Amino acid sequence: MSFFKDKVIWITGASSGIGEALALELAKQGGRLILSARREDELKRVAALTKLPDLDIMLLPFDLKDTSKATALAASILNKFGRIDILVNNGGMSQRAEAEKTTIDIDRELMEINYFAYVNLTKAVLPYMKRQKSGHVIVISSIAGKFGFYLRSGYSAAKHALHGFFDSFRLETEKDGIKTLIVCPGKIKTNISLNAVTDKGAHGKMDPSHENAMSAEECARIILKGIQNNDEEILVGGKELLAVKIKRFFPKWFGRIIRKQSPF
Ligand SMILES: NC(=O)c1ccc[n+]([C@@H]2O[C@H](COP(=O)([O-])OP(=O)(O)OC[C@H]3O[C@@H](n4cnc5c(N)ncnc54)[C@H](OP(=O)(O)O)[C@@H]3O)[C@@H](O)[C@H]2O)c1
Repeated sequence: MSFFKDKVIWITGASSGIGEALALELAKQGGRLILSARREDELKRVAALTKLPDLDIMLLPFDLKDTSKATALAASILNKFGRIDILVNNGGMSQRAEAEKTTIDIDRELMEINYFAYVNLTKAVLPYMKRQKSGHVIVISSIAGKFGFYLRSGYSAAKHALHGFFDSFRLETEKDGIKTLIVCPGKIKTNISLNAVTDKGAHGKMDPSHENAMSAEECARIILKGIQNNDEEILVGGKELLAVKIKRFFPKWFGRIIRKQSPF
């Protein structure tokens, strides 16, 4: 029997990319799903693809920029399913703009979507997970959470912040039976670069380096293995992941390699 059979799983960013691929794979494996993102029509499309009966699926559209109703959202899940086993904090927005040209409002928005929303949703499900004495919090960070990169200052800062918060959270909540997995994708072929914020609105272009990257489906399968193995942190992607190891063990060499990718 699948590890995920009958588990109640809340996925944010489920209307596209990695979140959509997770939803489809989890549905195949018998999960009961709550799908969140802003675009309700896209959530409906994904829900139809899962072929789950109404009893096993719920759509909860909302904007990660405003998670003030997080407690009510979590309560509505409990109301329908009676429990919540896994929260996948996945929804996010990237950046393609220099720090100098990024307004402080955009910096705050990047932090709100990519960091505070994750914290707030996790706090909203925590009382239920504690009561159950079990739960799994999944945090989709990035290799940008391991090192800064050109045109990613606000995004990379938010992803770094996730590690500080959730590494501490993991230590504090394991006594309550709660597990925390941080996932650091490298390059995955999704719409992330198209939707990235610039100083003039959405970037609207697929980064050439993402064209031949790992598929969202493969990424999702690796994440699900990480959950089953009770991993604390995993890197997912291709050869770009080497940069994480190089930064850690050979920081000067890393400095030279990363500058070769300058967009200027
Ligand atoms: N693809 C990569 O190479 C890569 C690398 C490292 C990390 N990641 C991370 O992986 C996660 C998933 O991204 P993806 O690659 O699958 O990109 P994607 O295809 O662009 O999906 C992003 C998802 O986040 C949702 N979202 C964005 N802004 C939102 C908001 N304000 N409120 C609610 N939902 C919002 C989008 O839904 P709506 O537009 O419908 O709201 C969409 O479902 C993100 O956290 C990203 O940082 C991706």
